Amino acid sequence: MKLLIINGSPKLGKNNTSILLDKFISGFNEKSDKTFQIYRMNTNETYQNAAKIFFEADNVLIAFPLYSYSMPAGVKLFIEALEPYIKKCHGKKVGFLIQYGFEEATHARPLEKYLASICKILECEYMGTIIRGGCDGLCRGQQIGRARKILQGIYEIGRDFGTSGKFDQDQLDHYSAPEIQKKMNPLLAKIIFWAINKFYWERAFKKNGVNLKESFAKPYGQ
Ligand SMILES: Cc1cc2nc3c(=O)[nH]c(=O)nc-3n(C[C@H](O)[C@H](O)[C@H](O)COP(=O)(O)O)c2cc1C
Repeated sequence: MKLLIINGSPKLGKNNTSILLDKFISGFNEKSDKTFQIYRMNTNETYQNAAKIFFEADNVLIAFPLYSYSMPAGVKLFIEALEPYIKKCHGKKVGFLIQYGFEEATHARPLEKYLASICKILECEYMGTIIRGGCDGLCRGQQIGRARKILQGIYEIGRDFGTSGKFDQDQLDHYSAPEIQKKMNPLLAKIIFWAINKFYWERAFKKNGVNLKESFAKPYGQ
């Protein structure tokens, strides 16, 4: 099998998508009869080129971060650039990887449906979507408990995909859990959100010169 992997993270440097892809590939490569090619798209030119490269490949994994419950604008450009290939993708197998900050899988479910419908329009085989939340910190530390678990999971998915040439939906569901977080004790939630605002957001606002008073202004409410 030859696998084309498209990374649609708009970030220029280190990105969480490529950290996950690196682990996926080390699993995929565990047995040596496979090859892969990585294509990075994050400029107008590369979005257009990616569509041509996509059309020429037999097996494709398209990976990107969730942006506002959807995809980065550039990934949407890429999808629009696939228009000439509508109904011309028979025999092609396509899967996706969506990773993001919030923990719950439910955030990516509408997008997953959309991606499956794109495959239907192209008339290619939809292999499935690897969904994984809680990925925000991967660039900062890959050895911390949760990050290690996320990376081990994607390694196993890559390894099993390399062996079988397909995704196992039970494995994907297990990897993307929890679907929805259990309800938190309201007092505990209050304390946690207070601490996040105080020690993370306020520091970030100060660092970036944000005027906190202005950020709560209600110009239309007065
Ligand atoms: C403009 C923007 C929108 C985002 N929207 C969401 C979102 O809707 N839900 C979420 O959980 N994370 C969201 N995130 C967080 C990213 O999905 C997350 O940081 C991801 O790991 C970044 O991947 P990358 O490093 O490969 O670009 C957003 C980030 C940005 C910059």
